[in-house]
Amino acid sequence: MTQRQVASVASPAESLGALLGESGGRLAAAGIDQPALEAAWLVEYVLSLSPLMQRVDAERRITAADCERVRALVARRANREPLQYVLGTQEFYGRDFCVTPSVLIPRQESALLVDEAVRRCAHTPSATVVDVGTGSGCLAVSVALALPEARVLAIDASADALVQARGNMVQHGLNARIACFQGDLLAAIAEMGLADQVDVILSNPPYIADGDIATLQPEVKNFEPRLALAGGPDGMDVHRRLIEQAPAYLKPGGVLLMEVGFGQAAAVCREAERSGQFHTYAVLQDEGGIDRVVCLEKK
Ligand SMILES: C[S@@+](CC[C@H](N)C(=O)[O-])C[C@H]1O[C@@H](n2cnc3c(N)ncnc32)[C@H](O)[C@@H]1O
Repeated sequence: MTQRQVASVASPAESLGALLGESGGRLAAAGIDQPALEAAWLVEYVLSLSPLMQRVDAERRITAADCERVRALVARRANREPLQYVLGTQEFYGRDFCVTPSVLIPRQESALLVDEAVRRCAHTPSATVVDVGTGSGCLAVSVALALPEARVLAIDASADALVQARGNMVQHGLNARIACFQGDLLAAIAEMGLADQVDVILSNPPYIADGDIATLQPEVKNFEPRLALAGGPDGMDVHRRLIEQAPAYLKPGGVLLMEVGFGQAAAVCREAERSGQFHTYAVLQDEGGIDRVVCLEKK
């Protein structure tokens, strides 16, 4: 038996119930909304014991080593690091994606982009689809799995984000199917002979107005990458640039699908109409009734 094992076995620090109480108290003091639930999830991560079994087995003695592992995770969460980064994972479109602070944590409302991309390709199964600002790769992976014959390209300006995206593509068996490129918006595909070839460009771009970043909750402003959040003075810099760049690559009738922030949809649609290259065929609302995805068809 090693010295570390001796220490762990010799000092059964406390009961599971006590550890849960201590952890929940620490998270509550840090202002976490559901401290008991999150404490249970962190304990589950370390002990592989479901929250239900934690209640049943509250008298179980926990080794000092496991107590320390739980406390280390609780300390990170109490520092307002997002739970998803602490646990290293987020579910999106029914699948798990690994997440680190180099990528935005996927949001459920972005599923609207996947739904619409898949709907538009229903009659063109071998469509070419480009995901701009792929981050964790959640959109590219979800589209590629929903459209097994599609050609999917994923682009991000961040090399660190692309490492994460590639990891998720491998995890979902898609590394050979999705081509990844580092670069600014569509620059990376400019030399690929894709002029007038793309069926769908989808993007969840950064769309927080620069001046609003400081008002976001600590989990977002202190941990999620600024490149994934900051969209210029009014949050719509990237939308404007995509409206300008996308027509060169889209087929006539091809679509540009962009997620937008609260109150931005009308302005983004106006920009698109003003370009003379698109007509707005839909604005999709999220579950909160907020205009969330602008759908533009190339004329
Ligand atoms: C809001 S995140 C979206 C991530 C992911 N698609 C999702 O929906 O969870 C925006 C992503 O765009 C990338 N990005 C920001 N500006 C970019 C640019 N000019 N060119 C390419 N990617 C950019 C960021 O690095 C970030 O990964």
